[in-house]
Parts: sequence; structure tokens; C-alpha cells
Amino acid sequence: MTEHRSSEWYAGTDRNAYIHRAWMRRGLPENAFDGRPHIAIANSASDLTPCNSHLDEVMESVKAGIYEAGGIPLNLPVVSLGETQVRPTAMLWRNMAAMATEEMLRANPIDGVVLLGGCDKTIPALLMAAASVDLPAIVVPGGPMKIGTFQGAALGCGTDVWRLSEEVRGGTLSEQEFLKSESSMISSKGHCNTMGTASTMALVAEALGTIIPGLAGTSAVDSRLLENSHETGRLIVDLVTAGRRPSSFLTKGSFQNAIVTLAAIGGSTNAVVHLLAIAGRLGIDLTLDDFDSIGSGVPLLVNLQPAGRYLMDDFQRAGGLLSVLREVKDLLDPTALTVTGKPLVDYLDTARIWDKEVISVRESPLIPDAGIAVLRGNLAPGGAIIKPAAASPHLLQHRGKAVVFDSIEDMHARMDDPDLDVDADSVLVLRGCGPKGYPGMPEVSNMPLPKKLLEQGVRDMVRICDGRMSGTAYGTVVLHVTPEAAAGGPLAIVETGDWIILDVPGRRLTLDLSQEELNQRTPNKATVDGFAKPKRGWERLYVDHVMQADTGADLDFLLGSSGDKVSRESH
Ligand code: FES
Ligand code: MG
Repeated sequence: MTEHRSSEWYAGTDRNAYIHRAWMRRGLPENAFDGRPHIAIANSASDLTPCNSHLDEVMESVKAGIYEAGGIPLNLPVVSLGETQVRPTAMLWRNMAAMATEEMLRANPIDGVVLLGGCDKTIPALLMAAASVDLPAIVVPGGPMKIGTFQGAALGCGTDVWRLSEEVRGGTLSEQEFLKSESSMISSKGHCNTMGTASTMALVAEALGTIIPGLAGTSAVDSRLLENSHETGRLIVDLVTAGRRPSSFLTKGSFQNAIVTLAAIGGSTNAVVHLLAIAGRLGIDLTLDDFDSIGSGVPLLVNLQPAGRYLMDDFQRAGGLLSVLREVKDLLDPTALTVTGKPLVDYLDTARIWDKEVISVRESPLIPDAGIAVLRGNLAPGGAIIKPAAASPHLLQHRGKAVVFDSIEDMHARMDDPDLDVDADSVLVLRGCGPKGYPGMPEVSNMPLPKKLLEQGVRDMVRICDGRMSGTAYGTVVLHVTPEAAAGGPLAIVETGDWIILDVPGRRLTLDLSQEELNQRTPNKATVDGFAKPKRGWERLYVDHVMQADTGADLDFLLGSSGDKVSRESH
């Protein structure tokens, strides 16, 4: 048997090996320590991460597969992030979850890891950890929930919360009816069933090659999830034997495949910061502009909410990810490998589209060019992004007067003020919502529209913010403005009444002021007072070290990999 990493703990007859084995026995047979691979299951199951609460069941299937292949499975609960629950935003804790998981994988006697994630930040954090410890790793995505219904119609988890709450504010739905939909919104175990961040990251992780091809998108209630979890357990033992580490097969081409996927599925803008952060851990030179250049010309083929109509169950029934990728096979890197050791493109030929309403063929896309657009200009020198697929076509080239909010609290206090000087052509600006400013870069950029305009029937306006937007949201929203206001970005000096020019085809975001006028401006006190100034703890570490959105909002000292070596014994 090949010598595995865990043998450094368990092999031999000395006192330390005795200690490592003795404390781990607890029912394990003696041959558990004869040199076979020990596999951690990095498990983000938690009652406070409702989208992942079924992962203990998934783990049992992974365990069975690992045993079957001659390995020893070990449950490793990891920091878990419930997108809807944690304050001030789950994104503040993504890097902490990644760092804690990386360190525990390295510190423990394990040879490989199966990563169980689902809710938005959990798969990104686990992949960042796996990349930095560089142990053989495979993701099992927990899968979307089944479709709930309300008043006879399907509810899109996430997206319909935004839609229904705007209906209430616009006076077309009563609050009572709105509240009635609450118990139908989450219809089963699993994560949001729209093409939000969780669905996006699972599909993108499969395109990267880190999931058994064909698994991502499988419903949390589908028995094929457990079947593939069992198969993943067997496969991770092979990966350990073959020494197939993330660094050995994840390449720039893998990220090309992920970006093509992101565009073709109409995926969440959050994938941009997550993919940049994962690439940063692998030392792969991926830039914000790659999202525009690789994604441009990629057609939108998937008609799912929030950009379209259907939900994840429909997507799987219609053929799933592999049927989408078959349509854009020529845009994929044919050499990029998956965890199975075979290229992703080898899995596409037998895939079929069964419902062209849900998944379009290449010849008749929903939108011919669905890539995320990267905007630059004097308002976003480091770049900003917009998802044209989720925006209103008539607003993609727009000149309007700024209505500026200094903080999320300021926005909530004034947005519905009948005296607010705003009309449908105004450009809503919200600042102080970047990684440092908030802190944690929350999903607040899709500001609710002023009540008086909703009542007039306005359903979209240009919005600009240094924060993120929920993957389940939609609208003409310019996000991730870099540098953020709290890092000296020009967003901090915009004043209400300034003219702003958005030109998505031209990739420009401009504050219509001369350089001279710009130079004379300084941020007002309310803006600066709104920036976070944490004194201690994780928030302090985060604000001192977080990088900007254009490089993935990771901490500067977490870039790259430290490998799996631990230099010293504990006794
Ligand atoms: Fe967990 Fe949407 S809240 S995936
Ligand atoms: Mg989210």
C-alpha cells in the first residue's frame, strides 16, 4: 500500500503513534490504522444553515462509499453559513470559514476530503480551503429544494420574496396575502431553487471539475444525490491513491469553463468574487476582465429565475448542466480535467435537451451575449460589474441624476419619503457597502425602489453600489464598484444631483464632472461616519486585510497555498 499522509500520525510503535491511534479507536478496527486512506468529510450541516441541514444524511452515503473503497471516513463539522440568518452578512464570514477549514484539514491526520456544501458561501469557502491545503478533494453539492406553490403558481425561492414584497409596497398585493406565502416559500430540504448563488456555485464548481460530472443541480430530495454521494466516497479514495490534488488539475482552462458556464446559465454575479478568490488560492492568474472577455458572446441558454421563468427542478428535467455545456462545447477548454481524471468535454456527447422552453439550443438563445459586463470609468477605476441578462434593456445606456445614500440605514430612512427628489430617470447610489465599509460586502445593491415610483408602475431603475446583489435578485444594478467608498473610491464623493452616465455596451461608468471638480471634492462626514471601524476580533482582522472585490475580496495573507505539510508533532 502507498504511504499516505495519515501514516505520519499512525504508523509505527512509538509513543506518539500509540497516542494518535488509541484516541481514535473508539470502535474502529485495528486495520483502520494499517495505512489505508483517512478521508475527512468537511460537513457544513447545521440547523442554523437551513439549506444545508440535510447534509448529515448525505454524509452517510459518502461514508458508505469510502468504506467500500477501503478508506476510513471521518466527519469534520466546519464553520457553516446560513445566508438568510447571519449578520451583518454571510460574506463577512466566508474567508473565516475558508481559513478555519483549511487549518483543520492541515492539522488533522487525513489524506483527502469530501466537501459538503450548499447554501451560497459554503461551496466557495470549502473550495478556497481545499485549494490552499491542496489535499485531494471532491465537492458534493447538497442540491436545490423542490418547488413550492402559492395560489396555484410556482414560487421561486428568493426571487419571489423580492417580487412579492415589491408588490406589497406597490399596493398590488395585501400584506396578509404576502405573509400567507411564507410557509410555501421553502418547500423541502435543499437550497434556493432559483439560479441564485447556491445553484450557480454548484454548477460552476462542476464546470471547474470538482464535482462528479452530472451531479450538480440534482435536487436535495432526489435519491440520485445519495447515489452520487456514495460514488463520490469511492472516488475520493481513488484520488488519494492517484495523488490527484487540486493543484494537479485545476488550470486557467478550468476557470474558462466556469466562466462560460456562468454566462450560459445566467448565473449569480456573486460567482465573480468567489471564482476570483478560489483562483487566488491556486495561484491562477484570473482577472476581473477575464469574466468580460471569456463571457462575451456566450449565449444565455437557461430560462431560470431571476433572469427568466423556471426553477432548478425544471432545469434538471430539461437536461441539466451537461446539456447546456454540449451547446457551447466549442467555447470550453477541451484539456481541462475533472475529479474523475477525464476532461469535462468527454461527458457532453450523450447529453440531451428535453425541454427547449427551459434550456435553449445554441441557435435560438434567450440573449445572444449573456456574459457579465465589466465597467470602468472615473466612478469605478478598478472596475464594476453588471449582469445584462437581469437588467432592463432600455436602461443599459442611461444618463441620470444621482440620488445618493450614505449608508444602508440612510437609504431605508429616506427611500420612501414622499418628498425625496427622485424620478424614474434618477440613478440611485448607495455607498459604504464594500468589503471594508460595511464590513463584509452585503447583498444590498438591489435597493428597493421609492414607493411613490412603484405606485406609478416603475419596476426598474439604474442603481450603483459598492456592495453585492443577491443571486436571486434582478434589475439594472451596477455592483462591486472598486475601489469601494471606504477604500478611497470616487463613489464616496458623488453628490445628489450629479449626472452619471451608464454605458454598458461601451463598458463605461462615468461621473460627469471634470477632473478638476473631482479633485476638489472630499467625502462628507456622514459618509465617513458610516464606514465600519471595528476594534477587535474577526471584523478587525477582516477590515485590516480584506482586498477589494476586483480580486475576490479574500484576505491578503490568505492568497496562495501552504500545502499539507505540518512541521511539528503535538507531543
Ligand atoms: Fe441558502 Fe438561498 S438562502 S441558498
Ligand atoms: Mg446570497
